[in-house]
Amino acid sequence: MSANSPAAVVVLAAGEGSRMKSKALPKVLHPVCGRSLLGHVVSAAQELAPRRLVVVVGHQRALVEEHLAQSYPGVLAAVQRDQNGTGSAARSALDALAADGTALDGTVIVTTGDTPLLTGATLRALAERHAVEGNGVTVLTAEVPDPTGYGRILRDAVGGAVTAIVEHKDADDAQRAITEINSGVYAFEGKLLAEALGRLGTDNAQGEEYLTDTLAILRTSGHRVGAVVAEDFRDILGINDRVQLAEARRLLNARLVERAMREGVTVVDPATTWFDVEVTYRPDAVVLPNTQLHGATHLGEGCEVGPNCTLTDTVVGAGAHVSNTTADRAEIAEGATVGPYAYLRGGVRVGAKAKVGTFVEIKKSQIGAGAKVPHLSYLGDAEVGEGANIGAATVTANWDGVNKNRTVIGAHARIGVDNMLVAPVTVGDGAYTAGGSVISQDVPAGALGVSRAPQRNIEGWVARKRPGTVSAQAAADALGGAAEA
Ligand code: UD1
Ligand code: CA
Repeated sequence: MSANSPAAVVVLAAGEGSRMKSKALPKVLHPVCGRSLLGHVVSAAQELAPRRLVVVVGHQRALVEEHLAQSYPGVLAAVQRDQNGTGSAARSALDALAADGTALDGTVIVTTGDTPLLTGATLRALAERHAVEGNGVTVLTAEVPDPTGYGRILRDAVGGAVTAIVEHKDADDAQRAITEINSGVYAFEGKLLAEALGRLGTDNAQGEEYLTDTLAILRTSGHRVGAVVAEDFRDILGINDRVQLAEARRLLNARLVERAMREGVTVVDPATTWFDVEVTYRPDAVVLPNTQLHGATHLGEGCEVGPNCTLTDTVVGAGAHVSNTTADRAEIAEGATVGPYAYLRGGVRVGAKAKVGTFVEIKKSQIGAGAKVPHLSYLGDAEVGEGANIGAATVTANWDGVNKNRTVIGAHARIGVDNMLVAPVTVGDGAYTAGGSVISQDVPAGALGVSRAPQRNIEGWVARKRPGTVSAQAAADALGGAAEA
């Protein structure tokens, strides 16, 4: 907490967000790039290290409170009983701060929960300008191409100072032509905010208490009202519906992908590459098209991921190659190869230089260094020793219908093609199993495990049982030919 950190940041998030048409989630909990809309705002606010961070909750508040408690412990939830305007929402926050014993001396930032592109840097610039100019309130504004729906900034014809904000619904035609809008983000002197909130009326088109009215109230009582115009109007986009949600995702993603490229990651197609905010990377990682990196996924130096990968909380080691793969909570060590068409499902570690190949699904297993599972296999609850090779179409029968059981395969073991490993079972170090075996007993180190019925051939069966078929003809030709020779 620095000397000029704000007394509090207040995030208004009690509104219904009806334009999202969502039954499952309140608007502010919809996710964008790995965080809720509210989470983005809270994270930006945390960069200012305020003494207290308050979120005003109301609509579906149990869900919002639970989300805050889980992901942002330490954030105070203030309840707004009736959602009758941003002014009353702000008052609920100040009441909660008073009950919490947080003094209001200093700056109180008020912002909304639906502006995921707002950065800590923008909030800091607003707070700094507010302090430097000694304002009673400073509003963050923006010049926008289409101001429909927003509150308009009214300025003094002579000095250009902000005099008031008029809501779209209350504005006359001349005011509606104004393209400078209110972002809904403000820095207030805490005590002046409390005082102004006490003087709000509801004489307006929506019959609500407007937080925006505090500007004219403070100006009329002789306080300075300032404004900071955002450098890029897109930074303050408020999300009201799912079209804007997709637009915000696109803009935020472009920011994240650009940052990665500037730090040395090659992104072949930024338009089809999606990064969550917590993704980390090392230089010379290459991301091929149509790839989604979720959660705390990490790209090691010089690795190559994509095309068509969806990685969640997955660590990709230096120089590893991962293609056409879905992975969740996997750890892929340096130099390993995964895919094309692999599915690593929860708690998989692929060792250094190991290979997981095509149409392979692995769950909760360790694949040792240099081991190979090249084709068409399912491994669950397995431990594969270093340098072992798993033949094509091998499956661990890891579930007995009640319990999950482990399969252990030793170092440099060779599992033949099309094996069924009935867990719990152990194949020792350096052991072999024959192709087509069902291995339900342990195979000692160095032994060959075989389990399959001996083959018998019934001579002349096709001629007798399938006479007149093309098969019978082919057989007759072959046998006749053999006889002649
Ligand atoms: C508000 C501003 C408008 C500004 C715009 C920027 C007012 C009166 N108007 O309008 O000038 O241009 O934001 O996006 O402030 N909320 C509550 N309780 C309520 C009502 C709203 O907590 O009773 C919260 C909402 O959850 C939302 C925020 O306040 O996060 C803004 O509410 P919203 O209804 O979206 O306001 P706008 O009409 O967009
Ligand atoms: Ca809004």
